[in-house]
Amino acid sequence: MRDRLTAWLGLLRTRRVEVDGQTLVVPPGVQDPVLFRSGSWFSAIVAARARPGMRVLDLGCGTGVVGLACQRAGARVVAVDVEPAAVAAARENGLDDVCQGDLFGPIADQRFDLVAFNPPYLAGSIGGRGAARRALGRSLYGGPGLEVVRRFAQDLPAALAEGGQALMCWSDRAPETPAALLGPAWRIVAEERLADEVLTVWSPAQ
Ligand SMILES: C[S@@+](CC[C@H](N)C(=O)[O-])C[C@H]1O[C@@H](n2cnc3c(N)ncnc32)[C@H](O)[C@@H]1O
Repeated sequence: MRDRLTAWLGLLRTRRVEVDGQTLVVPPGVQDPVLFRSGSWFSAIVAARARPGMRVLDLGCGTGVVGLACQRAGARVVAVDVEPAAVAAARENGLDDVCQGDLFGPIADQRFDLVAFNPPYLAGSIGGRGAARRALGRSLYGGPGLEVVRRFAQDLPAALAEGGQALMCWSDRAPETPAALLGPAWRIVAEERLADEVLTVWSPAQ
């Protein structure tokens, strides 16, 4: 309990965490892939599908944990995040091709073999001032009706190369499942039961 409290207070400063043998810089407000668990778990699932030369999009890259794991597998990675602090962190952590912008907007002319998104899956938003607070809000909250996730699913087909696949991380803390939110084509392809949370990975049937 004390460790968890210390970790939460630590969100207000820049930290370093280790994932799969690599040290990652985590600026204030950018999602900590170890504390929030989904980032480190999802990155291993996505990287297991990455192959040398494959074009991978790490959408909502945060620290770049997912893209970096794919890069280590030999994939050619492009990363996007709406939050400037996340873009800077992903570059500092070792991703070369990182764009700042909304979802597929900055890479609208590109097609990918694998698109990975660990989205903000809580409904709502957090207000208030300060860059760290804004970054944390963007990490966690996808809008009152999870519009970020809906827009992702709507624009996804145009970003996939022939035979391309998409993986989206989810949590049972979200108000709805992707199947309820986006339609029955979305299916679970991986699941992890933690003591207080169930993490899943979803993919749309081809
Ligand atoms: C749950 S965090 C995941 C971060 C990282 N991929 C991980 O797994 O640790 C969601 C990320 O999506 C980004 N994000 C939120 N809305 C976005 C949007 N409309 N376009 C691009 N990125 C967005 C946030 O800034 C945040 O970095």
